[in-house]
Amino acid sequence: KFQRNPIHNIESRLKSADSIMNKLIKKGIPFTIENARKYLLDIAGIRVTCCYINDIYVIAEMLSRRDDFVVLKQKDYIKNPKPSGYRSFHLVLNVPVHLSSSKTTVPVEIQIRTIAMDFWASLEHQLRYKKDVEFTDEMAKELYECANISASLDIRMDKLRRSVLGQKEFEIKN
Ligand code: GTP
Ligand code: MG
Repeated sequence: KFQRNPIHNIESRLKSADSIMNKLIKKGIPFTIENARKYLLDIAGIRVTCCYINDIYVIAEMLSRRDDFVVLKQKDYIKNPKPSGYRSFHLVLNVPVHLSSSKTTVPVEIQIRTIAMDFWASLEHQLRYKKDVEFTDEMAKELYECANISASLDIRMDKLRRSVLGQKEFEIKN
């Protein structure tokens, strides 16, 4: 319908037993399977990378509209970036899973972001969690500024795309 794919890349991961345990401990919750199921909504995670900011909202809207998915949580860190500078659109969906003899639902955390947001988040994560190196306020400030530069690049690319397509065609393609 849109004559192009709004999705650039999709990655998925399952949280390891180790990470599940560490996260529960950090939250002060006893490590049991029931608690992991109840309190952790990101055991299943999917990351969708889009080309343009506009595509993020198209994808989020498509997923939220589906009547087989239930939206448990939604956070727009593009309109409201995190103090670190982090930007992405987060959705937690309850998704049906058909087993051999029964049906259940599982929460899935979906992070939807542009290539630029993904570039920043990946490098920031690497830098911030480097072992045995102190992460200073100066470094955090520098990363925050990089996030703003990256965000303005996204806005410029979006504007450029609109002028390449022309406003009329832009509306049809979206
Ligand atoms: P968690 O307990 O961390 O899951 O917090 P939460 O439930 O409030 O989730 P949140 O909406 O903060 O999203 C958590 C996920 O978003 C993390 O696992 C990261 O993948 C990503 N994220 C959030 N903040 C940052 C950030 O500052 N930098 C990077 N690189 N990723 C972030
Ligand atoms: Mg998380």
